[in-house]
Amino acid sequence: MKTELVQIEAAEIFRSLTMEACVPLMADTLKNLSAGGTFQPPRSVHVLPGGGLFGFMPAYLGPDDYFGAKVVTGFHSNQGTEYPSHMGSVLLFDSKYGALRAMAEAGAVTQIRTGAVSGAATGLLARRDASSLALIGAGAQARSHLAAMCLVRPIKRVTVWDYYPQAAEALAKEIRETRGLEASACLTVEDTAKDADIVCTVSLCKEPVLYARHVKPGAHINAVGAFTPTTREVASDLVAASKLYADSREAMLRECGEYLVPKAEGLLNDSHIRGEIGEILLGRCPGRENDSEITLFDALGLASEDVACAKYVYLKKLGRL
Ligand SMILES: NC(=O)c1ccc[n+]([C@@H]2O[C@H](COP(=O)([O-])OP(=O)(O)OC[C@H]3O[C@@H](n4cnc5c(N)ncnc54)[C@H](O)[C@@H]3O)[C@@H](O)[C@H]2O)c1
Repeated sequence: MKTELVQIEAAEIFRSLTMEACVPLMADTLKNLSAGGTFQPPRSVHVLPGGGLFGFMPAYLGPDDYFGAKVVTGFHSNQGTEYPSHMGSVLLFDSKYGALRAMAEAGAVTQIRTGAVSGAATGLLARRDASSLALIGAGAQARSHLAAMCLVRPIKRVTVWDYYPQAAEALAKEIRETRGLEASACLTVEDTAKDADIVCTVSLCKEPVLYARHVKPGAHINAVGAFTPTTREVASDLVAASKLYADSREAMLRECGEYLVPKAEGLLNDSHIRGEIGEILLGRCPGRENDSEITLFDALGLASEDVACAKYVYLKKLGRL
Protein backbone atom coordinates (compact mmCIF):
# COMPACT_ATOMS: atom_id res chain seq x y z
CA MET A 1 0.00 0.00 0.00
CA LYS A 2 1.26 3.45 -0.91
CA THR A 3 1.61 5.86 2.02
CA GLU A 4 1.25 9.57 1.58
CA LEU A 5 4.21 11.50 2.92
CA VAL A 6 3.22 14.80 4.54
CA GLN A 7 5.67 17.68 4.37
CA ILE A 8 5.29 20.29 7.13
CA GLU A 9 7.12 23.57 6.56
CA ALA A 10 8.34 26.03 9.20
CA ALA A 11 5.50 28.57 8.77
CA GLU A 12 2.90 25.90 9.39
CA ILE A 13 4.77 24.59 12.44
CA PHE A 14 4.91 28.09 13.96
CA ARG A 15 1.13 28.42 13.43
CA SER A 16 0.24 24.96 14.66
CA LEU A 17 2.64 24.27 17.55
CA THR A 18 1.85 27.14 19.92
CA MET A 19 3.82 27.56 23.14
CA GLU A 20 0.55 26.96 25.02
CA ALA A 21 0.30 23.53 23.40
CA CYS A 22 4.00 22.72 23.46
CA VAL A 23 4.75 23.24 27.18
CA PRO A 24 2.32 20.49 28.35
CA LEU A 25 3.35 18.32 25.38
CA MET A 26 7.00 18.53 26.46
CA ALA A 27 6.07 17.84 30.10
CA ASP A 28 4.30 14.65 28.96
CA THR A 29 7.25 13.70 26.74
CA LEU A 30 9.74 14.06 29.61
CA LYS A 31 7.44 12.11 31.91
CA ASN A 32 7.17 9.22 29.41
CA LEU A 33 10.94 9.22 29.01
CA SER A 34 11.53 8.98 32.77
CA ALA A 35 8.84 6.30 33.07
CA GLY A 36 10.79 4.16 30.56
CA GLY A 37 8.16 4.31 27.81
CA THR A 38 10.49 5.95 25.30
CA PHE A 39 13.56 4.39 23.71
CA GLN A 40 16.19 6.93 22.79
CA PRO A 41 19.62 5.73 21.58
CA PRO A 42 22.52 8.20 21.89
CA ARG A 43 22.63 10.80 19.13
CA SER A 44 25.54 10.85 16.70
CA VAL A 45 27.17 13.94 15.30
CA HIS A 46 29.66 13.58 12.43
CA VAL A 47 32.17 16.18 11.34
CA LEU A 48 32.22 16.26 7.54
CA PRO A 49 35.44 16.75 5.54
CA GLY A 50 34.64 20.45 4.92
CA GLY A 51 34.02 21.08 8.64
CA GLY A 52 30.22 20.92 8.48
CA LEU A 53 28.30 18.89 11.08
CA PHE A 54 25.83 16.14 10.31
CA GLY A 55 23.68 15.00 13.24
CA PHE A 56 21.28 12.09 13.66
CA MET A 57 18.95 11.98 16.72
CA PRO A 58 16.61 8.96 16.87
CA ALA A 59 13.74 8.23 19.31
CA TYR A 60 10.96 5.65 19.59
CA LEU A 61 7.89 6.95 21.44
CA GLY A 62 6.39 3.49 22.10
CA PRO A 63 4.28 0.67 20.60
CA ASP A 64 1.17 1.83 18.69
CA ASP A 65 2.80 5.23 18.54
CA TYR A 66 5.49 6.83 16.37
CA PHE A 67 9.25 6.79 16.03
CA GLY A 68 11.63 8.93 14.08
CA ALA A 69 14.74 11.01 14.02
CA LYS A 70 15.87 14.57 13.67
CA VAL A 71 18.44 14.69 10.86
CA VAL A 72 20.24 18.03 10.77
CA THR A 73 23.30 19.76 9.43
CA GLY A 74 25.28 22.56 11.04
CA PHE A 75 27.22 24.64 8.51
CA HIS A 76 28.57 27.70 10.34
CA SER A 77 30.30 28.68 7.08
CA ASN A 78 26.83 29.60 5.78
CA GLN A 79 26.98 32.90 7.65
CA GLY A 80 26.56 35.67 5.07
CA THR A 81 24.95 33.35 2.49
CA GLU A 82 21.26 32.85 1.76
CA TYR A 83 21.31 29.62 3.82
CA PRO A 84 20.77 29.34 7.60
CA SER A 85 23.46 27.64 9.70
CA HIS A 86 21.18 24.70 10.67
CA MET A 87 18.90 22.81 8.31
CA GLY A 88 17.13 19.49 8.32
CA SER A 89 13.97 17.55 9.07
CA VAL A 90 12.31 15.56 11.77
CA LEU A 91 11.28 12.28 10.11
CA LEU A 92 8.15 10.67 11.57
CA PHE A 93 7.38 6.96 11.08
CA ASP A 94 4.42 4.98 12.43
CA SER A 95 5.27 2.10 14.74
CA LYS A 96 2.69 -0.30 13.26
CA TYR A 97 3.95 -0.50 9.66
CA GLY A 98 7.23 1.41 9.86
CA ALA A 99 5.92 3.78 7.21
CA LEU A 100 7.39 7.25 6.84
CA ARG A 101 4.41 9.55 7.46
CA ALA A 102 5.80 13.05 7.77
CA MET A 103 8.81 15.31 7.49
CA ALA A 104 8.70 18.41 9.69
CA GLU A 105 11.13 21.32 9.28
CA ALA A 106 13.70 20.86 12.05
CA GLY A 107 14.57 24.49 12.78
CA ALA A 108 11.04 25.50 13.74
CA VAL A 109 10.52 22.35 15.84
CA THR A 110 13.83 22.92 17.66
CA GLN A 111 13.11 26.59 18.26
CA ILE A 112 9.69 26.01 19.82
CA ARG A 113 10.35 22.79 21.73
CA THR A 114 13.51 24.06 23.44
CA GLY A 115 11.70 27.02 25.02
CA ALA A 116 8.77 24.75 25.88
CA VAL A 117 10.97 22.19 27.65
CA SER A 118 12.45 24.99 29.79
CA GLY A 119 8.87 26.19 30.36
CA ALA A 120 7.90 22.77 31.70
CA ALA A 121 10.99 22.72 33.97
CA THR A 122 10.43 26.30 35.18
CA GLY A 123 6.79 25.58 35.95
CA LEU A 124 8.00 22.90 38.35
CA LEU A 125 11.13 24.54 39.77
CA ALA A 126 10.90 28.35 39.86
CA ARG A 127 9.42 30.14 42.83
CA ARG A 128 5.67 30.64 42.34
CA ASP A 129 6.07 34.42 42.62
CA ALA A 130 8.98 34.64 40.14
CA SER A 131 8.40 37.83 38.13
CA SER A 132 11.82 38.92 36.83
CA LEU A 133 13.60 37.20 33.96
CA ALA A 134 17.20 37.46 32.74
CA LEU A 135 18.03 36.38 29.19
CA ILE A 136 21.71 35.66 28.56
CA GLY A 137 21.66 35.65 24.76
CA ALA A 138 19.35 37.51 22.41
CA GLY A 139 18.69 35.17 19.50
CA ALA A 140 15.92 32.77 18.53
CA GLN A 141 16.13 30.82 21.79
CA ALA A 142 15.90 34.00 23.86
CA ARG A 143 12.59 34.74 22.13
CA SER A 144 11.33 31.18 22.54
CA HIS A 145 12.27 31.23 26.23
CA LEU A 146 10.62 34.60 26.78
CA ALA A 147 7.34 33.19 25.41
CA ALA A 148 7.60 30.08 27.57
CA MET A 149 8.57 31.91 30.77
CA CYS A 150 5.69 34.39 30.37
CA LEU A 151 3.35 31.44 30.12
CA VAL A 152 4.40 29.68 33.32
CA ARG A 153 5.20 32.67 35.60
CA PRO A 154 3.86 36.25 35.94
CA ILE A 155 6.90 37.92 34.33
CA LYS A 156 6.95 41.72 34.70
CA ARG A 157 10.61 42.69 34.18
CA VAL A 158 13.18 41.37 31.68
CA THR A 159 16.89 42.09 31.45
CA VAL A 160 18.94 41.02 28.42
CA TRP A 161 22.64 40.49 27.75
CA ASP A 162 24.23 39.51 24.47
CA TYR A 163 27.77 39.22 23.13
CA TYR A 164 26.67 41.96 20.73
CA PRO A 165 25.15 44.78 22.85
CA GLN A 166 23.05 45.98 19.91
CA ALA A 167 21.36 42.55 19.78
CA ALA A 168 20.44 42.89 23.48
CA GLU A 169 19.13 46.44 22.89
CA ALA A 170 17.04 45.26 19.94
CA LEU A 171 15.47 42.43 21.94
CA ALA A 172 14.73 44.67 24.96
CA LYS A 173 12.99 47.17 22.63
CA GLU A 174 11.03 44.34 21.00
CA ILE A 175 9.89 43.08 24.42
CA ARG A 176 8.73 46.55 25.50
CA GLU A 177 6.85 47.09 22.24
CA THR A 178 5.28 43.67 21.75
CA ARG A 179 4.62 42.61 25.35
CA GLY A 180 4.45 45.89 27.22
CA LEU A 181 6.88 44.59 29.85
CA GLU A 182 9.64 46.54 31.54
CA ALA A 183 12.76 45.46 29.61
CA SER A 184 16.33 46.71 29.46
CA ALA A 185 19.65 45.66 27.97
CA CYS A 186 22.66 45.31 30.29
CA LEU A 187 26.35 45.45 29.46
CA THR A 188 27.41 42.67 31.85
CA VAL A 189 26.04 39.24 32.68
CA GLU A 190 26.22 40.15 36.37
CA ASP A 191 23.94 43.20 35.97
CA THR A 192 21.56 41.12 33.86
CA ALA A 193 21.24 38.22 36.31
CA LYS A 194 21.74 39.66 39.81
CA ASP A 195 18.09 40.59 40.55
CA ALA A 196 16.42 37.95 38.39
CA ASP A 197 14.13 35.21 39.71
CA ILE A 198 14.66 33.20 36.51
CA VAL A 199 17.85 33.18 34.41
CA CYS A 200 17.95 31.54 30.97
CA THR A 201 21.36 31.04 29.36
CA VAL A 202 20.64 30.81 25.63
CA SER A 203 23.87 32.11 24.09
CA LEU A 204 26.57 30.78 21.80
CA CYS A 205 29.15 31.11 24.61
CA LYS A 206 31.40 28.08 24.99
CA GLU A 207 33.14 29.22 28.20
CA PRO A 208 31.33 30.05 31.48
CA VAL A 209 29.72 33.48 31.76
CA LEU A 210 27.34 32.93 34.70
CA TYR A 211 28.95 32.48 38.15
CA ALA A 212 27.52 31.86 41.64
CA ARG A 213 28.13 35.50 42.65
CA HIS A 214 25.85 36.64 39.80
CA VAL A 215 22.73 34.86 41.00
CA LYS A 216 20.48 35.61 43.97
CA PRO A 217 19.16 33.00 46.46
CA GLY A 218 15.93 31.40 45.30
CA ALA A 219 16.67 31.86 41.58
CA HIS A 220 15.90 29.22 38.98
CA ILE A 221 18.27 28.78 36.02
CA ASN A 222 17.67 27.14 32.65
CA ALA A 223 21.06 26.37 31.04
CA VAL A 224 20.37 25.74 27.37
CA GLY A 225 22.96 27.17 24.98
CA ALA A 226 25.81 24.68 25.53
CA PHE A 227 25.29 20.96 24.97
CA THR A 228 28.64 19.22 24.51
CA PRO A 229 30.99 17.64 27.13
CA THR A 230 33.49 20.51 26.95
CA THR A 231 31.34 23.62 26.47
CA ARG A 232 29.31 25.46 29.12
CA GLU A 233 27.73 28.79 30.00
CA VAL A 234 27.33 28.16 33.74
CA ALA A 235 30.50 28.07 35.89
CA SER A 236 31.47 25.18 38.17
CA ASP A 237 30.82 27.13 41.42
CA LEU A 238 27.22 27.85 40.44
CA VAL A 239 26.54 24.26 39.35
CA ALA A 240 27.97 23.04 42.67
CA ALA A 241 25.81 25.55 44.60
CA SER A 242 22.60 24.54 42.78
CA LYS A 243 20.14 21.70 42.88
CA LEU A 244 20.78 20.18 39.46
CA TYR A 245 18.07 18.65 37.23
CA ALA A 246 18.39 16.97 33.82
CA ASP A 247 16.12 16.34 30.84
CA SER A 248 17.83 12.92 30.67
CA ARG A 249 20.27 11.73 33.34
CA GLU A 250 21.91 9.40 30.83
CA ALA A 251 22.51 12.28 28.40
CA MET A 252 23.82 14.49 31.21
CA LEU A 253 26.38 11.86 32.24
CA ARG A 254 27.50 11.53 28.61
CA GLU A 255 27.28 15.00 27.09
CA CYS A 256 26.79 17.84 29.56
CA GLY A 257 29.80 20.16 29.97
CA GLU A 258 28.07 22.07 32.77
CA TYR A 259 28.07 18.82 34.74
CA LEU A 260 31.14 16.96 33.42
CA VAL A 261 33.66 19.79 33.85
CA PRO A 262 33.03 20.40 37.60
CA LYS A 263 32.90 16.62 38.04
CA ALA A 264 36.37 16.31 36.46
CA GLU A 265 37.50 19.13 38.78
CA GLY A 266 36.41 16.99 41.76
CA LEU A 267 33.75 19.53 42.85
CA LEU A 268 30.83 17.11 42.63
CA ASN A 269 29.88 13.53 41.80
CA ASP A 270 26.91 11.74 40.22
CA SER A 271 24.80 12.08 43.38
CA HIS A 272 24.72 15.83 42.69
CA ILE A 273 22.16 15.19 39.93
CA ARG A 274 18.86 15.51 41.82
CA GLY A 275 16.84 13.92 39.06
CA GLU A 276 15.05 14.34 35.76
CA ILE A 277 12.17 16.72 35.10
CA GLY A 278 10.08 13.64 34.25
CA GLU A 279 10.91 12.12 37.64
CA ILE A 280 9.52 15.20 39.40
CA LEU A 281 6.34 14.80 37.33
CA LEU A 282 6.16 11.12 38.29
CA GLY A 283 6.52 12.02 41.98
CA ARG A 284 9.82 10.12 42.18
CA CYS A 285 12.01 13.07 43.07
CA PRO A 286 11.42 16.37 44.84
CA GLY A 287 11.47 19.69 43.05
CA ARG A 288 12.10 23.00 44.80
CA GLU A 289 11.97 22.53 48.58
CA ASN A 290 12.29 26.11 49.83
CA ASP A 291 12.34 29.70 48.58
CA SER A 292 16.06 30.27 49.02
CA GLU A 293 17.68 27.35 47.18
CA ILE A 294 18.96 27.77 43.62
CA THR A 295 17.59 25.29 41.09
CA LEU A 296 19.34 24.58 37.79
CA PHE A 297 17.79 22.77 34.84
CA ASP A 298 20.33 21.80 32.19
CA ALA A 299 18.76 21.14 28.78
CA LEU A 300 20.71 19.06 26.31
CA GLY A 301 17.82 18.71 23.86
CA LEU A 302 16.33 15.28 23.18
CA ALA A 303 15.18 13.45 20.07
CA SER A 304 11.96 12.36 21.82
CA GLU A 305 11.03 16.05 22.15
CA ASP A 306 11.50 16.54 18.40
CA VAL A 307 9.58 13.40 17.44
CA ALA A 308 6.70 14.25 19.83
CA CYS A 309 6.45 17.71 18.22
CA ALA A 310 6.51 16.23 14.70
CA LYS A 311 3.74 13.83 15.72
CA TYR A 312 1.68 16.75 17.10
CA VAL A 313 1.95 18.90 13.95
CA TYR A 314 1.28 15.87 11.74
CA LEU A 315 -1.87 14.80 13.62
CA LYS A 316 -3.05 18.40 13.76
CA LYS A 317 -2.60 18.74 9.99
CA LEU A 318 -4.68 15.60 9.49
CA GLY A 319 -7.39 17.04 11.79
CA ARG A 320 -6.86 14.23 14.31
CA LEU A 321 -6.20 16.56 17.27
N1 LIG B 1 19.90 22.55 24.46
C1 LIG B 1 19.09 22.59 23.43
O1 LIG B 1 18.15 21.81 23.32
C2 LIG B 1 19.28 23.65 22.38
C3 LIG B 1 18.33 23.79 21.36
C4 LIG B 1 18.48 24.82 20.43
C5 LIG B 1 19.57 25.66 20.49
N2 LIG B 1 20.50 25.47 21.47
C6 LIG B 1 21.68 26.34 21.54
O2 LIG B 1 21.26 27.58 22.10
C7 LIG B 1 22.14 28.60 21.63
C8 LIG B 1 21.30 29.75 21.10
O3 LIG B 1 20.60 29.31 19.97
P1 LIG B 1 19.76 30.33 19.06
O4 LIG B 1 18.94 29.50 18.15
O5 LIG B 1 19.10 31.35 19.91
O6 LIG B 1 20.94 31.01 18.24
P2 LIG B 1 20.90 32.41 17.49
O7 LIG B 1 21.94 32.33 16.44
O8 LIG B 1 19.51 32.75 17.10
O9 LIG B 1 21.33 33.46 18.62
C9 LIG B 1 22.61 33.42 19.18
C10 LIG B 1 22.90 34.68 19.95
O10 LIG B 1 24.27 34.61 20.37
C11 LIG B 1 24.94 35.83 20.02
N3 LIG B 1 26.34 35.56 19.67
C12 LIG B 1 26.92 35.65 18.45
N4 LIG B 1 28.23 35.34 18.53
C13 LIG B 1 28.48 35.05 19.82
C14 LIG B 1 29.64 34.65 20.52
N5 LIG B 1 30.81 34.48 19.90
N6 LIG B 1 29.54 34.41 21.85
C15 LIG B 1 28.37 34.55 22.49
N7 LIG B 1 27.21 34.92 21.87
C16 LIG B 1 27.28 35.17 20.55
C17 LIG B 1 24.16 36.41 18.87
O11 LIG B 1 24.26 37.83 18.90
C18 LIG B 1 22.73 35.93 19.13
O12 LIG B 1 22.01 36.88 19.89
C19 LIG B 1 23.05 27.94 20.59
O13 LIG B 1 24.28 27.61 21.17
C20 LIG B 1 22.29 26.71 20.20
O14 LIG B 1 23.13 25.69 19.70
C21 LIG B 1 20.37 24.49 22.41
